[in-house]
Amino acid sequence: MTTVALKDVTKVFRDGTIAVDKLNLDVNDGEFMVLLGPSGCGKSTVLRMIAGLEEPTSGAVLLGGDLVNDLEPGDRGIAMVFQDFALYPHMTVGGNLAFPLRLAGIEPSPREERVADVASALGIGDMLGRKPSQLSGGQRQRVAMGRAIVRRPGLFLMDEPLSNLDSGLRAELRAEISGLTRELGVTTIYVTHDQAEALTMADRVAIMRKGVLQDVGTPTQVYGRPATLYVAAFLGSPRMNLLEASVYVHLDRYITLSLGDQALHLPWDDIRSRAVAHYHGERIVIGMRAEALTPVAPDAPGHVLMGRIRYLEHHGHESLAFVDIGATAVVVDQMGTPVQDVAGPRGRSRLGQVMQRLTGRGGEAEQPAAEPAGDNRASVLSDPGRHHRRPAELAVRLAPYPAVGPGHPLAVSVRMDALHFFDERGDRIDVGWR
Ligand SMILES: Nc1ncnc2c1ncn2[C@@H]1O[C@H](COP(=O)(O)OP(=O)(O)O)[C@@H](O)[C@H]1O
Ligand SMILES: [Mg+2]
Repeated sequence: MTTVALKDVTKVFRDGTIAVDKLNLDVNDGEFMVLLGPSGCGKSTVLRMIAGLEEPTSGAVLLGGDLVNDLEPGDRGIAMVFQDFALYPHMTVGGNLAFPLRLAGIEPSPREERVADVASALGIGDMLGRKPSQLSGGQRQRVAMGRAIVRRPGLFLMDEPLSNLDSGLRAELRAEISGLTRELGVTTIYVTHDQAEALTMADRVAIMRKGVLQDVGTPTQVYGRPATLYVAAFLGSPRMNLLEASVYVHLDRYITLSLGDQALHLPWDDIRSRAVAHYHGERIVIGMRAEALTPVAPDAPGHVLMGRIRYLEHHGHESLAFVDIGATAVVVDQMGTPVQDVAGPRGRSRLGQVMQRLTGRGGEAEQPAAEPAGDNRASVLSDPGRHHRRPAELAVRLAPYPAVGPGHPLAVSVRMDALHFFDERGDRIDVGWR
């Protein structure tokens, strides 16, 4: 068994692509760590550097506390499973499973025993004589996993091992993989772009964006208190509602969070008030998940927003109403790049650019230094001087096949303690008490 530590690990490919940017990550012994992020964010590169298939440009990779930067892949005690789980087509299942043991010089009799053990653990014990072409996708993936674990590696690396399978099988194998690796007690790093997979399988999740680590924590932590707007938008279904709000502090009473036509009031004794109060007179982003919203009678007490249903989605066990409350949406696309992001020359925030145009202040000489290419920290707030403000459609859970429909008014009660606050750059405002 083993631990993994990445210290300031950076990978710049020869063409200048910064695939991984100063990554720091610790994986505990026996832990199931999921690396989550959209395609191209650097997940596979991280795995390949741990496996020794790719050399870090800078930084240190430690396995079990030892620096392994110069260790050959074969000497690292690692097993890896890929998306395209290639099996040897001319060998039987038994032959495939036994192959790594044969390479390692293990005698036939203990070899057969280990193969039988692994095969029965994976539920493929009666298929040892078949060829890969006579197996289903799920069975083939089980053989690939078996071949990886048969050598009893100290570390298991899996790169999107389920993404080629259909959804039913994926859910089944998800449970099997996390069960099996925990049973074996093998430290596992599992790569996926599927947030549901990450949340269901992981002991801890590390979320990456454009080579940069955004957040690490248990599924409950990263879902419940995402460190950045990006993490907030990436996790959960339906997606978190993200709204622009203007902050006005009424000292010792409450903070008004103006959403356009309506406002919410954060009580002054709320633990987050002091942090939010720093943004007096500015705009921030409010995140509210569907579970923070409950349909109520229009005259209900508490924090209630009034809106109109734009459309409904029926999901069988529930319906989602998308409700226009006259607020402006903050849109974060798959890659996490704000959709309206036409980050100005020199990466200055959009708000900053507008301010410059309006006030004529902040000429060339005063502009901040150019930010690195691939900067992902431009303002997420829309430019009020332009016309791409998008009305927010608040996702609200309703009972299946509700009696209301598009065009109907809907009052929604907001659980203030379940709100998330982010600044213009997408960083969580109330940090420090996770
Ligand atoms: N050998 C390579 N040469 C140049 N760029 C590469 C190479 N391998 C990957 N990349 C780039 O590095 C980034 C991260 O890739 P990768 O680690 O495969 O992402 P992921 O696994 O998250 O989809 C991408 O922009 C990809 O195009
Ligand atoms: Mg990949």
